[in-house]
Amino acid sequence: MRILLTGGAGYIGSHIVTALYPRGHEAIIVDDLSNSCRAAVDRVESIVQQPVHFHQTDIRDTDTLREIFAIERPQAVIHLAGLKAVGESVAQPLRYYDTNINATLSLLQVMTEANVRKLIFSSSATVYGEPETLPLTEDCQVGVGISNPYGWTKFMIEQILRDTAAAEPAWEITLLRYFNPVGAHASGLIGEDPAGIPNNLMPFVAQVAAGRRDHVSVFGDDYDTPDGTGVRDYIHVIDLASGHVAALDRLVPGVSTYNLGTGQGTSVLELIHAFSEASGKPIPYHITSRRPGDLAASYCTPAKASRDLGWTATKTILDACRDSWHWQSTNPDGYPTT
Ligand code: NAD
Ligand code: WQD
Repeated sequence: MRILLTGGAGYIGSHIVTALYPRGHEAIIVDDLSNSCRAAVDRVESIVQQPVHFHQTDIRDTDTLREIFAIERPQAVIHLAGLKAVGESVAQPLRYYDTNINATLSLLQVMTEANVRKLIFSSSATVYGEPETLPLTEDCQVGVGISNPYGWTKFMIEQILRDTAAAEPAWEITLLRYFNPVGAHASGLIGEDPAGIPNNLMPFVAQVAAGRRDHVSVFGDDYDTPDGTGVRDYIHVIDLASGHVAALDRLVPGVSTYNLGTGQGTSVLELIHAFSEASGKPIPYHITSRRPGDLAASYCTPAKASRDLGWTATKTILDACRDSWHWQSTNPDGYPTT
C-alpha cells in the first residue's frame, strides 16, 4: 500500500517508514518540520535505499494537504503529527488544542474527500489517566485523572475518531496507545533528537552518559513501587514500528484499539543501571522531589495486540539502551543542522 505518514519525519514516524519498505509498502511523509528536520528524511532514505516522497507542510493547511493527496493518492494514513511535550502543553494549552485537534480535523476532511478511509492514529497510554488497576487493558477506564492538555488532546481525538467511524461505517480506524517509546534504529542513523533539555527519561540519561549533562534528577523515590521510583512500560521504537505494520495488515471496519507496550514495568533506577551497563559509562543521579502530574506506575498487558494483530514486542530494555547509546554516541549533537 501507499501509506501517507503525517509527522513522518519525527522520532516514531521515521522508524515506521523503515519498517514499511521491507514489507512492500511505500511511504509518503508529510511534516512541517516543527519538531524534526530534513536530515532525518535523508537518513531514512539511506536506510531503505529508495527515495521517500516528502512534503513540508502544516497539515492544518487543508488546501495544501488536499493537493498532496491528489498527487500522491495514498491508500492509508498513519497520523502522528502533533505536539507532544507534556509540560509545554500545560503552559500553552491553546497552542496544543489548536495544533493537535485542528490537524486531525483537517486530515479527516481531506481523507473523506479523497475517499481514503484507512487510518492509524498515534494515541497514548496517557488517555488512561490515573490507572484503576494494573496492568492496563484496552477496556480500562479512560479520561479520569488526565493531568495535562496534551493528554486531553489524545483523549478528544480518540472520541472524534469514534464519532467519525460511527457516522460512516466505511472507516477502518485503529487507535494505537503507545506506552513509553525508547531506543533507536540499529544502524545508528536515526533516533530521538529532542530540542533543548529532554523532558523524557531515556534521552536525558543518554545525554548524561555522553557527558552533555552532569547528572540525572530522579523525580521521587517514595512511590509505592519496588524501589520507590516511577515504573513505566518502555517499548523499543522498532517494536513500536512493527506494531504499525501489523495494524495496517489487519485494519477492519469501525474503530479498534490496542495497547503497544511490552507488559514489563521498569523503574527509573533500573533504566539508569541498564543504560550504564549498555554504554559502559557511569550515570550519576540525584534523587529530587516528584514531578507534578507523574504517575507511580504505568504498564499494560499487550495480549490483545498479540491475539488480534499477531504482534508482540521482542526487544528488551537493554537492547533499547544499547541502540539509544549507539545513536547518541555516533550523533552526539543529534542530526546535522546544515
Ligand atoms: P515527534 O515530535 O518526533 O514527531 C511528531 C512530528 O509531527 C514532528 O516531526 C513534527 O515536526 C510534526 N508536526 C507537528 N505538528 C505538525 C503539523 N501541524 N503539521 C505537520 N507536521 C507536524 O514525536 P514522536 O515522539 O515521533 O511522536 C509521534 C506521535 O506519537 C505524536 O502524535 C505523539 O503525541 C505520539 N506519542 C508519542 C509518545 C512518545 O513518548 N514519543 C508517546 C505516545 C504517543
Ligand atoms: C518516565 C519516568 C519520571 C525524567 C511521558 C508523557 C506520556 C508519553 C511519554 C506521549 C517517570 C522519571 C523522567 C527525568 C525522572 N508521551 N523521570 N527524571 O512521564 O511516563 O510519559 O512521555 O504520549 O504522555 O507523559 O515519561 O520519560 O518523562 O518519565 O526521574 O529527568 O522517569 O518521573 O517516572 P512519562 P518520562
